[in-house]
Amino acid sequence: MSKLTIVYYSQTGVNLKMAKLAAKTAQEYGAEVRLRRVKELRDTSNVTADSPWAKKIEAEKDIEIATPEDLVWADAIIISSPTRFGNIASQMKNFIDSLGAVWSKGQLVNKYVTAFSSSQNANGGQESTIKTIYTSAMHWGSIIVPTGFTDDSIYAQGGNPYGVSATQKDNDDIIENDVENAIIHQTKRLLDVASN
Ligand SMILES: Cc1cc2nc3c(=O)[nH]c(=O)nc-3n(C[C@H](O)[C@H](O)[C@H](O)COP(=O)(O)O)c2cc1C
Repeated sequence: MSKLTIVYYSQTGVNLKMAKLAAKTAQEYGAEVRLRRVKELRDTSNVTADSPWAKKIEAEKDIEIATPEDLVWADAIIISSPTRFGNIASQMKNFIDSLGAVWSKGQLVNKYVTAFSSSQNANGGQESTIKTIYTSAMHWGSIIVPTGFTDDSIYAQGGNPYGVSATQKDNDDIIENDVENAIIHQTKRLLDVASN
């Protein structure tokens, strides 16, 4: 049985939804799954009640904070970050920058890594965000598992072969069905590759 750790950051809930769907898919596919969020760095004491951010905080309150050990434990890793000015969220970078000790012991070598992102605009930097995650994975000696064009769902979600990229529509219906299918495919593909 493959061991999968999913690490995400989400402010308004999109990446949380994506990560949860990947976790459900992987569990149903027979994997042992750790779903983990990275630590918030912003001051959340004044978040407006009933805002997407407040709802997201409530929705993830039972999800544990990621530790480097969660990656060491895993065979396969999914990293999911919103796009921030064409880059990953600083909260995710902060977690990545906590991996020095496990990296220096070679404990991320040969992990199978894939990534998701979301943004407001289809051409707003999803690809560069995913490639930034893959750049760090190269330093770890991990094995990057992009989707390529391995399934029709990749074309349907916009044709990004680097990884699933959700374009946020609104806060009530933030994941479209074609993105869901691509998340399911990417998750299963990662587990298939990791178990070969
Ligand atoms: C500070 C900041 C920077 C952002 N930069 C971009 C960007 O470069 N391109 C884009 O299309 N959307 C950008 N967005 C929008 C987010 O990427 C988008 O809302 C994303 O789906 C949020 O994911 P989440 O709900 O998981 O937090 C930005 C949002 C914030 C708050």
